[in-house]
Amino acid sequence: MNKTLICLALAAGSLLSSAASLAQTAAPGDQLYKAFGEKPGLVALMDDFMVRLLADPRTGPHFQPANQQRVKEQLVEQLCALSGGPCVYKGADMKSAHANLDIKKSDFHALVEVLQQSMDAKGIPFRKQNEMLALLAPMNRDIITPTESAAKP
Ligand code: HEM
Repeated sequence: MNKTLICLALAAGSLLSSAASLAQTAAPGDQLYKAFGEKPGLVALMDDFMVRLLADPRTGPHFQPANQQRVKEQLVEQLCALSGGPCVYKGADMKSAHANLDIKKSDFHALVEVLQQSMDAKGIPFRKQNEMLALLAPMNRDIITPTESAAKP
């Protein structure tokens, strides 16, 4: 009898722990990725984004000399990974990618504004746009070129 009870207890315990691990794997992890239309959605978004970045007088001069195809591809991988998709970003870290590009705070804001235009054009819900922007915003520290006064101790 005792043995049966122990067996039952063990079975219940293992059921509970597998339910817990199921809950973990089914975490809301890739909801943002899905809201952006997964990989095809991100590719379409970045195609639109680059056209707008080049057309905008504030960001165009930065992106004209760049390898635009590579930047788009790397952005797709980065946003895919950030939003919980099955990607691993293997491009340059943000500091090295933007070193010596003389990027000002206003340039960063301009890029965010252009990204919002693209997300609007693709019909991404406002809340989801904000979730993505919240993941990107902290990167400003590595992307904006430090001013001389900020670099001084
Ligand atoms: C959150 C904001 C940003 C993100 C997530 C981002 C992301 C990236 C990525 C993934 C790359 C490619 C790295 C690689 O080739 O390995 C890249 C390159 C580049 N980014 Fe950004 N970037 C951001 C903001 C900016 C801003 C504000 C500017 C200028 C207005 C800018 C200008 C560039 C340029 C010109 C390149 C190409 C550099 C080269 O030719 O090597 N980025 N960025």
